[in-house]
Amino acid sequence: MFNLKVLITFICLISVVSSQNILSRDILSQNGSLHDISPQDISFIYEEPIDGLKFVTLLPTYNHLMIWMAFEDEDPECMLPYFHLRIINKITGQTNYIDLNYTLPAEAVCPINNIDFLPVADNYILLYYAKTTNGIKGKHGMIINYSGEFMSEIYLGNADGYVALSNEGFINIEKPDEKGISAWHWYSSPNIETGEVVEHSSGEFHAPNLPSYTLVDSLNFDLVDGGFGFLYILKYDETKGSSVIKDPNVQYWRIYVSFLKVKTDLPTKPSLLYETTQKLNNITLRLCTLTYNAEGYICVMTLNNTITNNNKSWTEINYYQLGFLSTGALVRLEIIPTPTNITDIDLRALYYGGFIVIYQNASAIDFYLLDDNGNYMQSQGSFGPEFFFYNTYRTISTIFGVKEQAKNKLEFLFKPLPKLKKGSEFSPVIESAKPSINEVIDPLIKEITIKYTIPVKLSTGNVSIFQLNDDKYKPGLLRQTFSGDSKLCTIGSDNHTVHIPIFESTFSQQNSTYYVLVGNNFVISQERDEPLIGIRKNIWTLSTSNIHIFF
Ligand SMILES: *[C@@H]1O[C@H](CO)[C@@H](O)[C@H](O)[C@H]1NC(C)=O
Ligand SMILES: *[C@@H]1O[C@H](CO)[C@@H](O)[C@H](O)[C@H]1NC(C)=O
Ligand SMILES: *[C@@H]1O[C@H](CO)[C@@H](O)[C@H](O)[C@H]1NC(C)=O
Ligand SMILES: *[C@@H]1O[C@H](CO)[C@@H](O)[C@H](O)[C@H]1NC(C)=O
Ligand SMILES: *[C@@H]1O[C@H](CO)[C@@H](O)[C@H](O)[C@H]1NC(C)=O
Ligand SMILES: *[C@@H]1O[C@H](CO)[C@@H](O)[C@H](O)[C@H]1NC(C)=O
Ligand SMILES: *[C@@H]1O[C@H](CO)[C@@H](O)[C@H](O)[C@H]1NC(C)=O
Ligand SMILES: *[C@@H]1O[C@H](CO)[C@@H](O)[C@H](O)[C@H]1NC(C)=O
Ligand SMILES: *[C@@H]1O[C@H](CO)[C@@H](O)[C@H](O)[C@H]1NC(C)=O
Ligand SMILES: *[C@@H]1O[C@H](CO)[C@@H](O)[C@H](O)[C@H]1NC(C)=O
Ligand SMILES: *[C@@H]1O[C@H](CO)[C@@H](O)[C@H](O)[C@H]1NC(C)=O
Repeated sequence: MFNLKVLITFICLISVVSSQNILSRDILSQNGSLHDISPQDISFIYEEPIDGLKFVTLLPTYNHLMIWMAFEDEDPECMLPYFHLRIINKITGQTNYIDLNYTLPAEAVCPINNIDFLPVADNYILLYYAKTTNGIKGKHGMIINYSGEFMSEIYLGNADGYVALSNEGFINIEKPDEKGISAWHWYSSPNIETGEVVEHSSGEFHAPNLPSYTLVDSLNFDLVDGGFGFLYILKYDETKGSSVIKDPNVQYWRIYVSFLKVKTDLPTKPSLLYETTQKLNNITLRLCTLTYNAEGYICVMTLNNTITNNNKSWTEINYYQLGFLSTGALVRLEIIPTPTNITDIDLRALYYGGFIVIYQNASAIDFYLLDDNGNYMQSQGSFGPEFFFYNTYRTISTIFGVKEQAKNKLEFLFKPLPKLKKGSEFSPVIESAKPSINEVIDPLIKEITIKYTIPVKLSTGNVSIFQLNDDKYKPGLLRQTFSGDSKLCTIGSDNHTVHIPIFESTFSQQNSTYYVLVGNNFVISQERDEPLIGIRKNIWTLSTSNIHIFF
């Protein structure tokens, strides 16, 4: 047995240290004083009870920090075939130590990226990995609960491909074959009681059938209403082209998008998003995400181009934002200015608008922010040479770094990023809600309201109120639920405010805590019909007092 006594310390760092300006001078003001560590930063120290385990990755979720630890193999690309995950509850600090009693196949752990995990529902983790059975290399999934108890196992498909999560379960999309066809299998979220998952639909994505083009790459992303989007990058193939005469108008590169909506078996016909007559070296797409203002989705597109002029040639990397609606209509194609002399940058769209530019060399991880139009914002930061890993935590607008492990001790530093646009702790598209978070309410309250930052219309997503269970592992008790378009909800004359009626019985339990769960697609934007993100559980909490008032 391992000694499970651990040291968890949250330290608020109060020291403010200035550092050298390390960014290229052409982009950044030389005046701003740089703060490596600001007063809002949170440092978190984790001490691993098992000697020899090394940090693999950190995955923050709404309520937990998940730290994946592994024993190193002799080959640095591999790990030993055991799975160790630490799940830390961010509120209580309680840690669950999962040391899975299961020996993973060698091909799953070598190289290490043949295995990964996803939190698939409250209390369940999907572990998925490569495994060969009867000579066929496939991808297998295993559901475990937060105690590391094995719940169920499923075959997901080909070993190559992507596993992605939505609020309607998870999907496995295989890598496209030579014909540009990728099979997909869509699974339910684990059953709350048994942890069992079922495949609820399957089908194929078909790349546009264009004889003179070859599929270079494909990419998936999740949709706000639970479906999935799929992008194709196609390149004109001169050897396949029919005309012998060179057509100056030939589109060398094309990008298409297709959508797989909830409760449908057929993805939409691919729509053309981008094409260029430039003979680029390559196009890459990264991290397609929901926009904060209901203008659909945005992807960061990288164009790699070699320019030849006066016998000189050089390679340019340019970043663009490619924004489109869930109808497939293009809404935005703009260059995002980046330092010209730093080639290897990581550019990500932020949840509350704008972008973060991150770049790394042997001794520092530096970042700064850009607004929606790519203008430099006076906001930047750095993780020093003792940090070796970083990631962003999109929905709470945070970047974090991990310090080089010292024996069993790991230190994480979370830096909050400024929210560039209005919005609230509820979501980037909600201005306010009444009653406010943690308010003690009158049990006979007649309605609650949500004010959006844009004009909205009611849609099919649900709004529900749950009473918290005393046992925090048990789901809350449903007190009322209905959909946006159920005729019970109304929109105020400003077109921004939604009024949600409350039943007399909903808050009848005194001395209790409740939360309002607003599903995605509860409302859509009036202007573009795009579904809006909701309010997840345990954010909009309300309570009733313990003093019973008799009338
Ligand atoms: C890394 O960047 C920092 C800050 O820009 C700079 O001081 C340092 O010289 C760089 N190191 C290397 C190895 O390029
Ligand atoms: C980029 O260019 C600026 C000046 O143009 C220079 O100060 C800086 O060191 C350069 N950075 C790198 C990484 O070459
Ligand atoms: C830096 O500050 C000085 C003095 O406040 C000002 O004159 C100058 O314009 C500033 N430069 C930039 C790039 O903001
Ligand atoms: C691991 O599982 C095997 C059989 O499934 C069992 O015999 C063994 O005792 C378990 N080991 C631990 C440490 O729980
Ligand atoms: C995991 O499942 C086991 C067996 O069903 C159960 O005893 C345990 O309480 C579960 N753990 C959690 C955290 O739900
Ligand atoms: C082009 O980019 C794709 C990703 O979009 C990548 O998979 C491929 O290897 C790149 N090709 C070349 C020749 O660099
Ligand atoms: C850009 O393309 C060239 C030529 O294909 C390649 O050598 C280079 O690595 C690419 N650069 C990036 C950053 O992808
Ligand atoms: C370009 O190269 C060619 C042959 O190498 C040479 O004849 C020509 O003068 C060069 N042009 C310039 C502008 O340097
Ligand atoms: C809304 O709630 C109803 C009843 O609980 C349920 O059948 C329906 O699937 C829910 N809709 C969504 C979009 O979750
Ligand atoms: C609200 O929307 C309706 C329908 O589109 C429109 O007629 C009305 O002018 C809008 N009201 C405001 C205050 O914008
Ligand atoms: C209110 O609830 C808390 C926590 O559930 C409990 O400790 C307390 O005794 C309750 N008070 C009354 C008056 O019921």
